[in-house]
Amino acid sequence: MGKEKMQSIQSIKGFADLFSNEARIFTWLESTAREVFSRYQYEELRTPLVEFTDLFKRSIGMETDVVQKEMYTFPDSKGRMMSLRPEATAGVMRAYIEAGIREPVSKFFTIGPMFRHERPQKGRMRQFHQINAECLGPMEPEVDAEAICMLMDFLASAGLGKLTLQINSLGCQECRPAYKKLLQEWLLALAPEALCEDCQRRIHTNPLRVLDCKVPTCKEHLAKAPLLLEHNCPECRTHFDAVVRLLTARNVPFELNYFLVRGLDYYMRTTFEVVSGDIGAQGSVAGGGRYDGLIASLGGPEIPGVGFACGMERLTLLLENDPRFAQTQTCPDFYAVALTDIEDGQAAQSAVFTLCQDLRAKGFAGSMAFQPKSAKNALRQADKLRARFVLLLGPEELAKGNVTVKHMASANQASCALQSQEFWNFLQQ
Ligand code: HAM
Repeated sequence: MGKEKMQSIQSIKGFADLFSNEARIFTWLESTAREVFSRYQYEELRTPLVEFTDLFKRSIGMETDVVQKEMYTFPDSKGRMMSLRPEATAGVMRAYIEAGIREPVSKFFTIGPMFRHERPQKGRMRQFHQINAECLGPMEPEVDAEAICMLMDFLASAGLGKLTLQINSLGCQECRPAYKKLLQEWLLALAPEALCEDCQRRIHTNPLRVLDCKVPTCKEHLAKAPLLLEHNCPECRTHFDAVVRLLTARNVPFELNYFLVRGLDYYMRTTFEVVSGDIGAQGSVAGGGRYDGLIASLGGPEIPGVGFACGMERLTLLLENDPRFAQTQTCPDFYAVALTDIEDGQAAQSAVFTLCQDLRAKGFAGSMAFQPKSAKNALRQADKLRARFVLLLGPEELAKGNVTVKHMASANQASCALQSQEFWNFLQQ
């Protein structure tokens, strides 16, 4: 009876495997972020991928799409509701409060996967990765400007040009309620067909979100809506003007986007996004802002904060044709082979194995042939791998404790005692 072929298991929709090219870009983005962020004195914080669902409900907001329809939520064995983190900020705040940190300034960055059950498309995944930064403590506009400068420094250092920084101010608890009411009244006065179904619903649940609807007819009507920035209280206006002044003084190019409200409810005052026109509909590569009431609303002290997150998949789309990340055949230093004409194949393979480990211990990179080969095949394979040296172990070498080493480019060849000075000198060419 033949064995039944097992059905293979596939990945989950919206969850991707990252092979060579993409993995190289991810590593590059991560190391660039670490390097740039360290200049601003940010420290890494790794928080769990799973938190109690209430943390996200209370921080991101009950009326947001993220909380209403995009979280991966499940009960644990005791029936407590948990969620895969849809973003990093909430977990960082929870960790900060729980650790009881009371420094005047705390700066953290977090890199890792996030999970949102959205409809997958180019640049939108269900598991995606963020590079996230948060500065907690000070409320001065210099903090907002510094966070934005750090984000733009990172993007420039990663080789990402042609991006637009958009900024806005969402006001505060003092001025936003009055603006919300004004906007709601203005929206209700529009003919019902002026706005899409989602916006009709949002007028009552979260009128600010209507402002950043992408449906063309909504956009057309909203062009005449009262502007949030113009209804900021004097304190919010002063704060925002200072941020604008600081960015201008540093020659950081930006656009004012009066309709930028962001999809998470914890923001106040400065909000920003970085968008690209080169990667299709999901063009927002980074977003962030100030969230002064968030820590207190989670049961912590009244400590303000500013932060942002970049989407690594979207940044990868911008870098995927960059020749720096093209498949690079890294040339190994050596390729070591036991020859087929040795009687005791096992002893020869063990000797080659030991030789390879000795070479790696000295810093050489390379591989062994796991099966003995003829000298001809060994040379052909070394050539194909573009190895600098081929090392051959035949019956004679094995008997004498020698190895034959050939420099592939010059065809220079020597038979030397293993571990001898002559052997190591030969490898220096
Ligand atoms: P966000 O705008 O929801 O903000 O996400 C930040 C970035 O994550 C987006 O600009 C985008 O590049 C990427 N992103 C979001 N969803 C997806 C997805 N489904 N697939 C691929 N990439 C995605 C936040 O998450 C805030 N926590 C940022 C923040 C930190 N604000 C203050 N501190």
